[in-house]
Amino acid sequence: MTASLPIRDDLRGMHAYGAPQLDVRCQLNTNENPYGPSPALQKAVADAVAAIAGSLNRYPDRDAVALRADLAAYLGHGLTVDQVWAANGSNEVIQQLLQAFGGPGRRALGFEPSYSMHPLISRVTCTGWIAGTRDADYGLSTAAGQVTLHQPDVVFITSPNNPTGTAVPLDLIAAVYDAAPGMVIIDEAYAEFGRDGTPSALALLPGRPRLVVSRTMSKAFAAAGTRLGYLAADPAVIEALLLVRLPYHLSTVTQAVARAALAARDELLSSVDALRRERDAIVDWLRAQGLRAAESDANFVLFGTFEDRHKTWQALLDRGVLIRETGPVGWLRVSVGTPEEMAAFRTALTEVLR
Ligand SMILES: Cc1ncc(COP(=O)(O)O)c(C=O)c1O
Repeated sequence: MTASLPIRDDLRGMHAYGAPQLDVRCQLNTNENPYGPSPALQKAVADAVAAIAGSLNRYPDRDAVALRADLAAYLGHGLTVDQVWAANGSNEVIQQLLQAFGGPGRRALGFEPSYSMHPLISRVTCTGWIAGTRDADYGLSTAAGQVTLHQPDVVFITSPNNPTGTAVPLDLIAAVYDAAPGMVIIDEAYAEFGRDGTPSALALLPGRPRLVVSRTMSKAFAAAGTRLGYLAADPAVIEALLLVRLPYHLSTVTQAVARAALAARDELLSSVDALRRERDAIVDWLRAQGLRAAESDANFVLFGTFEDRHKTWQALLDRGVLIRETGPVGWLRVSVGTPEEMAAFRTALTEVLR
């Protein structure tokens, strides 16, 4: 349809990104938290919106200071408001980072398979993309060497990685930072789901002004609909982002709802332990079926391998279970849902494997 329009040459022929949004019984394809807010929290959110509704004729706080202070308090590690930035989902955080630190004539490096929006946002911000590689077990033992070789302006490390679930040890991130000439972005969208002892790169921030740790409220925080992503970094990074962000990018409604969710963090994060247990159980179950399942520190599991993975994906969908066709050839990814949803997934897959 865009063929007749004078669209940018590098966008011509591209297809819009997006996982299918289908109205099926078990939606296990976008790594959301399956647990919705309690009635009490629904009321707290509604009250928070009611409290600001009378001021919607005014622009929001452009710098979202109160929200950023709340996020800093949540993250801990001694972080303060000037080290935290927020935007509409971590996708927008990543876009702003690439607008400020990537762009024409610059290149970003990521280690594939990884989050597919990193190359896509690079492309739309006219940042060149270098597809780095992983070890056979999806680890990153060669990452620092690849960075030394390519000298990229931006490095992405997703930890835990999507779609493999792999968490990256801090010494490896520190080595990548030392080898990198530019920005190093650790995408920790799934950090809260890490197994015990899985560290956060937040601990590496002191003394590393080119390091950025991005997070989101879309996953563990059970607030994907709120669209709130954030990052922690040196204050100079946030000053750079102020140059590229659109004025008033975060609506007053978004800021109020995100603050209400942060105030209710005990409830919202209370499902994380159950989801981690469910994840470990599904890894064991998949292996017991004779399948391969990658180690996961996230709320999803990559499993396979299938000669025709699309056929398996479709057969599961025909049984009301929507998962994601992504990752290396022959593999599929299932998000961790409620015990009922995982039981439905197991039943459907057992039928399909028969
Ligand atoms: C690794 C990773 N980063 C970032 C995001 C984007 O999340 P959001 O824009 O909802 O914050 C996702 C979403 O699936 C993801 O998997």
